[in-house]
Amino acid sequence: MRMMPTRIAPSILAYDLSNLGAGLDIAARGGADQIHLDVIDGRFAPNITFGPGTVKALRPRSGMKFDTHLMIAEPRLYIDKFIEAGSDLLTFQAEVLDAAAFDLLYSVVRSRGKEMGLALKPETQLPDWALDRLDRLSALLLLTVSPGFSGQTMDKRVFPKIEHLSSLVAERGLKLDLEIDGGIDEGNVGEVAKRGGNVFVAGAGVYGRPDPVRAIGELRAKAQSARGGS
Ligand code: DX5
Ligand code: ZN
Repeated sequence: MRMMPTRIAPSILAYDLSNLGAGLDIAARGGADQIHLDVIDGRFAPNITFGPGTVKALRPRSGMKFDTHLMIAEPRLYIDKFIEAGSDLLTFQAEVLDAAAFDLLYSVVRSRGKEMGLALKPETQLPDWALDRLDRLSALLLLTVSPGFSGQTMDKRVFPKIEHLSSLVAERGLKLDLEIDGGIDEGNVGEVAKRGGNVFVAGAGVYGRPDPVRAIGELRAKAQSARGGS
């Protein structure tokens, strides 16, 4: 049985955008494992958030893992900038890649000693080219909302895909985070945990709560209990 650790990744997009540094501090106080940074370019998805300049400005504020979710149409043009800005995990959307593009990005990420992730929109299935490359990934991110905005409702139609990919990863004995992103809160984190997720991104489910520090602890407790304790 595959047992990757439970990790909570607050999504800073849901915090006060004029004060992101304070959002990082809250995540650290709550004992978050990594901070989720949603980069959207207005082309891949209908919103524009922030870029490498913001990531760089936040970097000195925290030693926490910077989990950078790049919802951008042309990652090749920006990969170096995000690495230089201090991203630790660089997660790219599979929809904008093919085998050759993946290999190129991977060679850059790897040569700089960073981690690579691959993200799928709710309706996207894992492409064949990615099946052969799972061993290069540190994270497979399954969106449970349409990319663009924090605060949407989780799309439970993604659940079979979570189960399927969780089994696939287990069969192959891969050490890979299965990261679930979109609409997670204390009421449903157990459901996605039971289906095989081990990293839980939460924007509104953390920063939209009256006590975000406590919300992080609650998400962790609920996820761990659904996963049988770890
Ligand atoms: C959607 C983003 C998500 C989102 C999470 O484009 O990838 O990370 O901001 O926020 P909540 O948890 O509020 O859905
Ligand atoms: Zn995200």
